[in-house]
Amino acid sequence: MGFEREHWNSNVGFILASVGSAVGIGNVWRFPYLVGTNGGGAFLFPYVVILTTFGLALMVLELAVGRYYQTSIIGCLTRIKKRFKWAGVFTVIVTFVVTSYYLVILGWILSYVFIMIFEPTLGFDSFSISFYPVAAFFAVVGINYLIIRKGISGGIEKINKVGVILLVCILVPLTVYAVFLPGSETGIMFYLWPDFEKIFEPPIWAAAFGQAFFSLSIGFGTLVAYGSYLRSKGSLVRASSAIVAFDTIIAFIAGLMIFSFLFSFGMEPDQGASLVFKVMPSIFSQIEFGAVIAVLFFALLFIAGITSSVSLFQVPISAMEDNVGMRRGRAVLVVTGLVTLIGIFSALSYSPIKLAVGGMPVFDFMDTMFGTYGITISAIIFVTIVSWFMDKRSLLEHIQQGSRIKIPYMLIYFARFVLPTAIAVTIILSIIKL
Ligand code: ALA
Repeated sequence: MGFEREHWNSNVGFILASVGSAVGIGNVWRFPYLVGTNGGGAFLFPYVVILTTFGLALMVLELAVGRYYQTSIIGCLTRIKKRFKWAGVFTVIVTFVVTSYYLVILGWILSYVFIMIFEPTLGFDSFSISFYPVAAFFAVVGINYLIIRKGISGGIEKINKVGVILLVCILVPLTVYAVFLPGSETGIMFYLWPDFEKIFEPPIWAAAFGQAFFSLSIGFGTLVAYGSYLRSKGSLVRASSAIVAFDTIIAFIAGLMIFSFLFSFGMEPDQGASLVFKVMPSIFSQIEFGAVIAVLFFALLFIAGITSSVSLFQVPISAMEDNVGMRRGRAVLVVTGLVTLIGIFSALSYSPIKLAVGGMPVFDFMDTMFGTYGITISAIIFVTIVSWFMDKRSLLEHIQQGSRIKIPYMLIYFARFVLPTAIAVTIILSIIKL
């Protein structure tokens, strides 16, 4: 390879980039729709429990493994044992496919910024069966390419610094506005009050696991790649706690905003994946300065999504650089080209061509197979390999670096037994119940 590995310019840059990777469409689009379809507060409780226990532990482990081996997911798992290369390749494939359809959703969001300006009455169904989503997909691929081509410190660090700050600036006033609308209290109650009849149902916990991992970017190999660009010996526990806290707060605020809006306008919360695209424009059309707020809202979603998509791209790009020995420029070009080829199938799912697999639109198929099951299985495989086959003492010592609190030895046993078993059992129970 013979070229020097890039590194983050600063620890703050790394934390902001990781926050940017975590905070994405998952927080503002996927989280509220899952809360809506899984009984409001009944979903929120397991979600927060998983984020702060399993999510935090997995994040520390992924970052630690990346920083320890200074290479991406395939390299790390191969260094643990050569025969685990397949596991790294599996994660890269999962992330690669998720990236391909993630860009399709980003295309919808970008389109909505313009639709809200020029054609606010265009409904989601009319939009999605046109060829606009395909054109928007190509535009989003181009934007990602331009950012990633600039490299770690030039492109990704910069967009994250701006993106994260802008996101907070737009989201907070919008939420304050929503919370003070008459009738919002019912929405806030639905969102926060745990429904004790539903709270122990396996499908709700399975959805919460999937969403927690999707939102924190766990099981994608992204955090391993970001950890590998760290040279500092700063505390990974502190950095991870900050990332989890920020991601949770942003999702929480987004939920507060959406359910306040929904209930104050007497709308149903269980609309599914189209919640944001169908309901929000209709709400915006009924409120003062709605057109301006609508544009800001979709612009916010777009910024959040772009900072995540560039981090997803990082996984296959790092794999090409570290394992195939490609230079960054070529790796960026090859990966962008392949992502476009695969993504086009998802982009055509709702077009007049209506591409489907066994009756299911390709887009939905990809999200279920890769976005839900793929990343969860990838997380189970990763944690099993790391906790059973990596040298326990080195791993713990590495996690301990820079941390003032003593990392308990129990973490290894938690990672060996509790983490994979709990996730697998929840997923299996939920499949049986479905
Ligand atoms: N973590 C990213 C998101 O939430 C993938 O959208």
